[in-house]
Amino acid sequence: MAKRSIAFVCQNCGAVYGRWQGRCESCGDWNSIAEEASGPPTASGPAPKAGRGRGRVFPLEGLTGEQKEAPRVASGIAELDRVTGGGFVKGSVILLGGDPGIGKSTLLMQACAALGSGGHRVVYISGEEATGQVRLRAERLALAHAPVELAAETSVEDIVATLSSGAPPRLVVIDSIQTMWTDTVESAPGTVSQVRGAAQILIRYAKTSGAAVILVGHVTKDGQIAGPRVVEHMVDAVVSFEGDGAHQFRILRAVKNRFGPTDEIGVFEMTGLGLAEVANPSALFLAGRDTSSPGTAVFAAMEGTRPLLVEFQALVAPTALGTPRRAVVGWDPSRLSMVIAVLEAHAGLKLGQHDVYLNVAGGLRINEPAADVAAAAALVSSLSGAPLPPDRVYMGEVALTGALRPVSQAAARLKEAAKLGFSSAMAPRAGLESAGRPPIAIEAAGDITDLVAGIAARGGGRSRREG
Ligand code: TYD
Ligand code: MG
Repeated sequence: MAKRSIAFVCQNCGAVYGRWQGRCESCGDWNSIAEEASGPPTASGPAPKAGRGRGRVFPLEGLTGEQKEAPRVASGIAELDRVTGGGFVKGSVILLGGDPGIGKSTLLMQACAALGSGGHRVVYISGEEATGQVRLRAERLALAHAPVELAAETSVEDIVATLSSGAPPRLVVIDSIQTMWTDTVESAPGTVSQVRGAAQILIRYAKTSGAAVILVGHVTKDGQIAGPRVVEHMVDAVVSFEGDGAHQFRILRAVKNRFGPTDEIGVFEMTGLGLAEVANPSALFLAGRDTSSPGTAVFAAMEGTRPLLVEFQALVAPTALGTPRRAVVGWDPSRLSMVIAVLEAHAGLKLGQHDVYLNVAGGLRINEPAADVAAAAALVSSLSGAPLPPDRVYMGEVALTGALRPVSQAAARLKEAAKLGFSSAMAPRAGLESAGRPPIAIEAAGDITDLVAGIAARGGGRSRREG
């Protein structure tokens, strides 16, 4: 018998304490520590079998082993396969996180149906909904006749026993990991130990059977996959499904991927018939753009290997407050502060008496520093009241010295802009030689003053808003 002990475990981050306390020192969360009866918390994997003194000798293999079957099975949903790196790897475990109601169950039902229709055995285990509800969703998606095996179960021992009794499935969906529980852990379902224990058993099943397993994970208010961060370390890939309630777009993003890239995104649109793939996201993100108003600039972004055009919207308005407001949606607030500081220090703009709002249209989140120039252009345009040319894209990183720094993969960005009918690009002078012959006209800028001068020269004049 393994030694049982009482431990106090943070339900947010999984840190273990010897006694109860109000605040977790590891993640800073209040009231997240709960008493759990469990085996030694540091032990990973099953307790060692009693009475086994010596280890078993196993053969070691070389790197150039024979690969008999294709290790991946593609779902046929291109946007999903792009994020996983070409399909589900056999024996791998993917954790899919996302806000409630974002469409995780819908996406996975569609993936199951696609694989099932391709002749693979797929099993969908729901711990949250009754099979009737899952069937209703499948009916709504017009997938009721897809060969997907269903069950509403929460005991992982029963699930593994059931799955092991037949031919190993290609794909098993567990919706969600927080509802699963195992006999081997004594604490209540939903606690960190339970989730960790259940995940361990399912991961072991995936590795031994070769089935790809997808675990659905709930996300807390601050965007972390709820419960144990440890599960994120245990699985092969962590994929998050994002979007906001006001928009129909959903972005699937790999946060960690042992078998593929982590910077690819998949773009979906939630429709009455489930999630539809968006093959041309730029057109979608630019739809309904108001080209005549000042304060908007189109950024030629890059998400993984895919170029994407998005609109940056800025509003610069005189403030009524002592400390002006700076609010950002979809971009890094500290990057905005930096761009504002550079505009003030090097281009002579005065924003100290202005509120600044910046928004990335469509609910997309941009992480690239290459967006600096687009943000700066939108800010200057809003401040000066001069609309930017509607057929121009912006890209480039702004250095603290005011210099514009080159962007990566400029050629791909310019090509996408040309494809969508843009005729010119404002880009840093540096690094353009390597991009080859550009498909559209380039207005090169050396530093931030060039950029500001170029915009201010376009009618309106900077004094309009300042007067
Ligand atoms: P769901 O997949 O249940 O979300 P999750 O599993 O992430 O909690 O999706 C629920 C939402 O999606 C719900 O608000 C309704 C919407 N939806 C559609 O708009 N169209 C559809 O075809 C389906 C099935 C759901
Ligand atoms: Mg669900």
